[in-house]
Amino acid sequence: MLGNFSYHNPTKLYFGDEALNYLNEELPKYGKTVQLIYGGGSIKKNGLYDEIVAILKDNGKTVVEDAGVMPNPTVEKLREGVRIARENKVDLLLAVGGGSCCDYAKAVSVSVHCDEDPWDKYYIRFEEPECEIVPVGCVLTMAGTGSEMNGGAVITNHEQKLKIGHVFGDEVMPKFSILNPKYTMSLPKRQMVAGVYDIFNHICEQYFSGGDDNTSDYIAEALMKSVIHSSLIAVENPEDYEARSNIMWTATWALNTLISRGKTTDWMVHMIGQSVGAYTDATHGMTLAAVSLPYYRMIMPYGLPKFKRFATEVWGVCADGKTDEQVAKEGLEAMEGWMKQIGVALSISELGATEDMLDGIAEGTIILDGGYKTLTKDEVIQVLKESM
Ligand code: NZQ
Ligand code: ZN
Repeated sequence: MLGNFSYHNPTKLYFGDEALNYLNEELPKYGKTVQLIYGGGSIKKNGLYDEIVAILKDNGKTVVEDAGVMPNPTVEKLREGVRIARENKVDLLLAVGGGSCCDYAKAVSVSVHCDEDPWDKYYIRFEEPECEIVPVGCVLTMAGTGSEMNGGAVITNHEQKLKIGHVFGDEVMPKFSILNPKYTMSLPKRQMVAGVYDIFNHICEQYFSGGDDNTSDYIAEALMKSVIHSSLIAVENPEDYEARSNIMWTATWALNTLISRGKTTDWMVHMIGQSVGAYTDATHGMTLAAVSLPYYRMIMPYGLPKFKRFATEVWGVCADGKTDEQVAKEGLEAMEGWMKQIGVALSISELGATEDMLDGIAEGTIILDGGYKTLTKDEVIQVLKESM
């Protein structure tokens, strides 16, 4: 662990099939008015909406509805949520849904008491909040983003063709999150595997960097093995509680800042994937899956020892009698085999990207330098071409 760091995560988690009961312990800590944030209606179909409204009423809360948070929440929806929060002087933002609802709640939380436009302030100028922040709580229904225990809030601006994430500090992280793996069981299979790949890639983004012997990398390997193992079970039997619970828990630990301690991080798959998302509005995890293999094949020579270790430790590739490069390649082949098995997207064209978009997607890709190679714009275009 060569880096200097601090570690603190303020989010309180309640995990398991009885976790929702703990909402009764959390609600008395906040004022009377709760903005109930949810998406396109899945929580009405599976009954969670009724359960939560009943708990809110039992606790004497006034419920202000904020429905229709779309996957990849937009800046227009964010402005609407801010208006609802201001008009009703809400005391708590309760997000019930996947990463989109949780991210959106955080973006609203830092904007309610801020006079400036949130998009310009937080997503273009990347400033930090100076205003009062409305507390956020989450009831998670989809495992993937880790938004339930981090400060990330990704917002899409279709007009500007930009999808940008701002990672806020401790004060913006959810005060509490309720994680009941059973809630994830009504997810369509495609969403489930998109979430699985999102988890896996969050771990990769933090693993493929650095050269020191670092405990974070060993934790990352264990999380990768767990998510690979459980995903194969869940794809066969989505009702398997044990597998779904492990997927939910790995999602949280994959992106709650733990495994990035003492390291630089890469995040280029996310930067390219998010720009693909800005053009296609495709499901987040699928955009990552579609660009990953060309990207990792491109950077592999620059981080060969780690790619070799990934092959042997995560995929069980036997290194006997092989060059480091052969072993590393076999690791990526094993990863590709798993991706095919669970059924994630392997090309951006199947997500709606066309040749004429590639230059714009590359232009909208934020280039970061924490990984094994800092890409040029031409290399981003090459990755995109190979992802078609
Ligand atoms: O809107 P509803 O009707 O609820 O349907 C949702 C949505 O259509 C559905 N869904 C969720 N739970 C369900 C369910 N359907 C049936 N049963 C359930 N239990 O799934 C669809 C996708 O939901 P969404 O919240 O959009 O998915 P996800 O959790 O993948 O979140 C994606 C957003 O999070 C951002 C992404 O960029 C994207 O905008 N990310 C946030 C991160 C963070 N905070 O750190 C990091 C990630 O890398 C990611 O960028
Ligand atoms: Zn992600």
